[in-house]
Amino acid sequence: MNLLLLGSGGRESALAWKIAQSPLVDQLFIAPGNGGTGAYGTNVALSPLDFPAVGKFVTENAVDMLVVGNEDPLVAGITDYFRQALPSLLVVGPEKAGAMLEGSKDFAKQFMVENNIPTARYRSFTLADIEEGYRFLESLKPPYVLKADGLAAGKGVLIIDSIEEAKQELKAMLSGMFGASSATVVIEEFLKGVECSVFVLTDGHGGYRILPVAKDYKRIGEGDTGLNTGGMGAVSPVPFADEVFMHKVEERIVQPTVNGLIARGIDYRGFIFLGLIEVDGEPMVIEYNVRMGDPETEVVMLRIESDLVALMKAAAEGNLGDMPMDIDPRTAVTVMLVSGGYPGSYPKGMEITGLEALLPAAGGKAETIPFHAGTALKDGRLLTSGGRVIALSSYGDMLPDAAEAIASALSRSYDAAGKVCFDGKYFRRDIGRDLMALASGR
Ligand code: AMP
Ligand code: GLY
Repeated sequence: MNLLLLGSGGRESALAWKIAQSPLVDQLFIAPGNGGTGAYGTNVALSPLDFPAVGKFVTENAVDMLVVGNEDPLVAGITDYFRQALPSLLVVGPEKAGAMLEGSKDFAKQFMVENNIPTARYRSFTLADIEEGYRFLESLKPPYVLKADGLAAGKGVLIIDSIEEAKQELKAMLSGMFGASSATVVIEEFLKGVECSVFVLTDGHGGYRILPVAKDYKRIGEGDTGLNTGGMGAVSPVPFADEVFMHKVEERIVQPTVNGLIARGIDYRGFIFLGLIEVDGEPMVIEYNVRMGDPETEVVMLRIESDLVALMKAAAEGNLGDMPMDIDPRTAVTVMLVSGGYPGSYPKGMEITGLEALLPAAGGKAETIPFHAGTALKDGRLLTSGGRVIALSSYGDMLPDAAEAIASALSRSYDAAGKVCFDGKYFRRDIGRDLMALASGR
């Protein structure tokens, strides 16, 4: 079959890497892709938001399945568009009503309350009831969590210590700080705990598979300090997300989510991303996303042994049945190399060198897989083109001790991080450190 994957980040590189290994695939197209995705298929200069142009390409190239990597086209209704315009096209990604789980935090919170899914206590406000918003803030303990209702490119969540500042920010948000996205603001209780990301592939008819669990590192600075980023690294599995914890996640969160969507008449065929936090051993939902995580995908793909294309096809056909999803027991980590200055302003067009040092010796396997994110090929030269540049993903050794397994994977990614060069290169040197400490009981 022929596949078209939409997106251009590290997530799409990892998806393309995995998809290209499937015997079911004849041709893989990536739109628009990046400087590395050409290794797995053919890059196509198309905007994922230009549905008619995507449709024309699909028809002309006999594409059988569309995999939507990022949330924007889903929230804009790409799945609904193709269900109408090209019903025979298989689409991996929810219809617009399902994408609201990410597209509207207010909707997501209502959905959780309706389905008894554990989440922080909350209320939503608009400018008309800002005074009530102030009173609700006063009823909470600091820090205060303010969330723009709509998509805000990962910047719409503010966590603030002072009540006065929280009130000012509430007013600023409701007055258009994130445009229409913050016309409604969700205020919620602050939860304290360790976070992890759980991914579910669902077929819209009650069938689902839980993918390997991962933890990402969002802040730019070591020790989880400084500004939020798209993600600076990831580790899978997550030692604290053991069988007991995952059983709770499945019973209290995954099943009610899948069933709640069906009860709402939403035909959700695609990935659900559960942003979870463990509070005193109990999982609670911080957020839903309607796509895979980035950079979590750069470790999750390493750990799925089964044919992902067969699984996605079954999900898109509405029948996952009893198709197995086998998981590689090894640990996988990824370390993100970013442009100096990110997540603030940063230069682009820096030449990237040293990737050839990561190629496997003849007949051998690569120690580290470089998943390109913000890269572009120009006249045969590989240049930086974004904040997050390359995710260096490695497997660890099969070791009984979780901390040692993480350490062995990290030593490979950090070794690679020393070899790949570009001006201004920055990466966090403490990825996985918290998990290693937790795993070894420190
Ligand atoms: P989001 O943009 O929804 O992923 O939120 C960004 C980050 O804010 C999350 O990954 C959490 O670290 C943090 N966060 C969001 N909601 C809460 C909450 N209720 N309590 C504590 N931290 C939160
Ligand atoms: N890594 C978090 C996200 O993809 O939203």
